[in-house]
Amino acid sequence: MGRRKAADRWLQAHVKDAFVRQSWRTGYRSRAVFKLQEIDDRDRLLRPATTVIELGAAPGGWSQLVAERVGARGGRAVAVDLLPMEPISGVEFILGDVSAPAVQEALVEKVGPQGAGLVLSDMAPSLTGINALDQARVMTLAGLVVDFCERILAPRGTLLIKVFQGEDYRGFLEQLRGAFCNVSIRKPRASRPQSREVYLLGRGYKRGLDGSRQIAGLPS
Ligand SMILES: C[S@@+](CC[C@H](N)C(=O)[O-])C[C@H]1O[C@@H](n2cnc3c(N)ncnc32)[C@H](O)[C@@H]1O
Repeated sequence: MGRRKAADRWLQAHVKDAFVRQSWRTGYRSRAVFKLQEIDDRDRLLRPATTVIELGAAPGGWSQLVAERVGARGGRAVAVDLLPMEPISGVEFILGDVSAPAVQEALVEKVGPQGAGLVLSDMAPSLTGINALDQARVMTLAGLVVDFCERILAPRGTLLIKVFQGEDYRGFLEQLRGAFCNVSIRKPRASRPQSREVYLLGRGYKRGLDGSRQIAGLPS
């Protein structure tokens, strides 16, 4: 299929999509918001007074929900993306690449020494359609997020991260199980059934921000 035809098909499917229509009706900027909404309704991640870091935030659907459920209730939200994002009241935004040391420094500085209670990552590289390459890029980003948690996530904090099932997925899951007391897999209804995307939810981060082991008896 030519590029033009594929783009037309995508557009047709997009306008028919129930979650896209729901986002238009409700004023959310992305259909992706309904993934976080479903996960949060079940798992209660967006608690009042939490400091939330959001990686890969544009165009801002998740940020809108975070602002409603956390920012408006005494919490703080800091979002970052490679792409610019229209401002959202209650969300501080950093434009840049999460893998860049300067961006990581800026996030650490904004969050302060107590760290974030919740790190959200809906990051996805622009997909090439070459499965092996896309998979490798997604898992590289995911690994980067877990490494960054050592600097930004508070002890006993929570991470919600998007990954694709495929090469390196099992190993990544095991890595998360080593870093968090409890790890669950979530596939919200708004995540297209044909997509390999799933969300991994790690609760009870075992490390301190100084890299120390926080919970006795657990592997360091
Ligand atoms: C699926 S979109 C996020 C949608 C968002 N959750 C929402 O509800 O609007 C993924 C985002 O990840 C961003 N992204 C990918 N790689 C990144 C990186 N290295 N640093 C920062 N953002 C990145 C992309 O620019 C894109 O905007």
